[in-house]
Amino acid sequence: MLSRDWGPVKKIGCQERAFSLVDKLWPETYDSHSKLWLNHWQGFFLSRVFVVRVEETMAALVVVGSQWGDEGKGKIVDLLAKDADVIVRYQGGSNAGHTVITDKGTFIFHLIPSGILYRGKVCALGNGVAIDPGGLIEELDRLKVNGIPVGKRFVISNRAHVIMPYHKAIDKAAEQAKGARRIGTTGRGIGPAYVDKMARVGIRMGDLLNPDVLKQKVRENLVEINAFLERIYNTDGFTVEKIFKDYQAYGERLRPHITDVPLILERAFQRGEAVLFEGAQGTHLDVDFGTYPYVTSSSSCSGGACTGSGVGPTTITGVLGVTKAYTTRVGGGPFPTELTNEIGQMLMTRGNEYGSTTGRARRCGWLDMVLLRYAVRINGLTSLAITKLDVLDGCKELKICTGYRYQGKLHKEMPADLQVLAGCEPVYERWSGWTTDTTGLKSYRALPSAAKRYLARVEELTGCRIDMISTGSKREDTIVVRNPLIRSRKR
Ligand code: GDP
Ligand code: IMO
Ligand code: MG
Repeated sequence: MLSRDWGPVKKIGCQERAFSLVDKLWPETYDSHSKLWLNHWQGFFLSRVFVVRVEETMAALVVVGSQWGDEGKGKIVDLLAKDADVIVRYQGGSNAGHTVITDKGTFIFHLIPSGILYRGKVCALGNGVAIDPGGLIEELDRLKVNGIPVGKRFVISNRAHVIMPYHKAIDKAAEQAKGARRIGTTGRGIGPAYVDKMARVGIRMGDLLNPDVLKQKVRENLVEINAFLERIYNTDGFTVEKIFKDYQAYGERLRPHITDVPLILERAFQRGEAVLFEGAQGTHLDVDFGTYPYVTSSSSCSGGACTGSGVGPTTITGVLGVTKAYTTRVGGGPFPTELTNEIGQMLMTRGNEYGSTTGRARRCGWLDMVLLRYAVRINGLTSLAITKLDVLDGCKELKICTGYRYQGKLHKEMPADLQVLAGCEPVYERWSGWTTDTTGLKSYRALPSAAKRYLARVEELTGCRIDMISTGSKREDTIVVRNPLIRSRKR
């Protein structure tokens, strides 16, 4: 068997190869954001003077949201997918809404990985994803209408769990019953589907291909589920035949795509390919590390990439944290830096902060370093991608939260106790804003100096370098300081 460190030499940008070499020769130039220009010029110079030949080896970069979701993961994954061979979603379901804007139009992906727009890239749904097959088929059909061929390069783990109609019914009924304490879920049946997975009564994608198993499981599950829906929630139950007929048809339609995903990933690594793991939701919506119980029901942190796709932790070569230049949240739960004033309204309007899945208005607030430092630690972030910097254009003053005050005491770390978090007052640093338009800027040098200072402070407070800065919603509106995928290739 080939060693994972071997792989065929493939063409990668000369300048990127030079950056890799600079990284090896002068690693200290990355320590400070103000020195980034030096790295740029060293890379540029080397790429012009030498032809740097680097043997291309496997990469496994996890892309996670570092806040409460909607950080712009879709845009970043789409951009990085150009240099990837496989893109895999590892958790969540159609509660996600990942927006990609290209010259072909606007695409909002709920289940299909954001790399699908590039021809020939393998896109996978790992075992950790909860799949609504009807919604997935609709997404596939929409791509077809837009002239994007999917074919067999789109694969689904046979171990992924299926979202059933009763999961959606329970999700909605449970939210209603909670009243003021409701989580504000997307209503896509996510929580109840993961409950069934853990209770070992879930139906998996592989089961859709076996009519006898499917019918038996539906029948067994409905005994309890119908009693629950009718007696506890006072709502209608479901019939075995209807569900069986619909889901068997979904299985037949998806049959060509259902396969052994870990095996596909293993073979990709053996060929020295680059794999992107596309996280959904964000660190603070993670079922273990988020603001529980106001979270989703999956492991949205980087650890979930391994259990949700079937690769070992030693395979991962980098973790990129996608971070909005401010903070947003959809649904309930504490949000210490939330702005309920005209500044919050301005961020919502300028940032077009409406949920990609439910259309709900997103709550907006200042950038919060307590959240971000925690995200760096929990995910083992190796770099950051800052998005929506352009939305801050025109703000006279910016605030960065550096800690929380609770009952007179300063907290620098994220409290696990939700009552404490709900009572925390943010402690802010004030930074001057900028008045120039940064929309669509593609070079770091062109940024106004106040924006550079803001970004440098983010690097300083998180101890994590910034690899990408997004300055608009389109693919090309991006400053790529260094490509985190190419940089994470194993040497
Ligand atoms: P995701 O769930 O993390 O993929 O993020 P969403 O797609 O739900 O939300 C991000 C929104 O911000 C989308 O409407 C994107 O088109 C948009 N967006 C992404 N990056 C930028 C940026 O740098 N500037 C602006 N103005 N919009 C952006
Ligand atoms: P992307 O991938 C933002 C939130 C919901 C709710 C909580 C639980 O686009 O960033 P669920 O339906 O998962 O049981 O809802 O989680 N939520 C998201 N918020 N972005 C998302 O996904 C989200 N997915 C779930 O609003 O508060
Ligand atoms: Mg989203």
